Amino acid sequence: MTELLRKFSSRAGNVLVYPDPETASQEAAARIAEAIADSVAARGRAVLGLATGGTPVPVYRNLVALHRLGRVAFDDVSTYNLDEYYPISPADPQSYHAYMHEHLFGKVRIAANRTHVLDGTVPEAFVDEACARFDSWIAAEGGLDLQLLGIGRNGHIGFNEPCGLPVDEFAALPTRLAELHPVTIEDSARDFEGRPDRVPRRALTLGPAPILAARVVLILAFGPRKAQAVRAALDGPVTAELPASLLQRVSEKTTWIVDEAALGAA
Ligand code: PGA
Repeated sequence: MTELLRKFSSRAGNVLVYPDPETASQEAAARIAEAIADSVAARGRAVLGLATGGTPVPVYRNLVALHRLGRVAFDDVSTYNLDEYYPISPADPQSYHAYMHEHLFGKVRIAANRTHVLDGTVPEAFVDEACARFDSWIAAEGGLDLQLLGIGRNGHIGFNEPCGLPVDEFAALPTRLAELHPVTIEDSARDFEGRPDRVPRRALTLGPAPILAARVVLILAFGPRKAQAVRAALDGPVTAELPASLLQRVSEKTTWIVDEAALGAA
């Protein structure tokens, strides 16, 4: 894993630049494996916050490969996913339950009661309670040891979408039901037969508060479509209009793993 092109520090954390998504994903998988080993050694368990979308697919593929080589074990790992559409059935192939089963949970040895994805079938009257319970499960496990993130074209993290809230108020938001931003609906359409009208309008998402509380944050961005959001998050103002900019508040524990294209023309 010597393909690192360069690294630099930004207001939002250290940035590691790789030539392509594959080499970047190898590094991300190696860091996740290392975080698991360190946390299990330090406190008997590792608690991971996991992301979905196109970006982490090669990361999970590399993590599964490490597992098959005996270089990472999930026996003492618990996972909490960032988000899930609402409403959606876990049996729906577009659900993040299905995604996680396909890319990770179905391919490694991990107990089902250690893998947690927000439930898109909860009756609406009980959504707040279900979200609060999710946050309390994470807290009861001693918090997230590592949060894996992608970044939306609009700068979202999880389904925390750009909004006009004062930044402190936004940073304190817990896990909750949120409205999807038009850019997110457009980008998610590729998973719904290219039909934006089929994309659920809402989603359950881990809030900025539990995300920023993770002990380590690993954020990935690949490809030129992310460049504008990445640049703004790294160097721009901290604002709820660009949720990833909040990582500037936790820069000491944040690492960006990107390909060259995601930085745009510097
Ligand atoms: P993507 O989404 O990996 O599918 O580009 C990233 C995100 O929206 O967080």
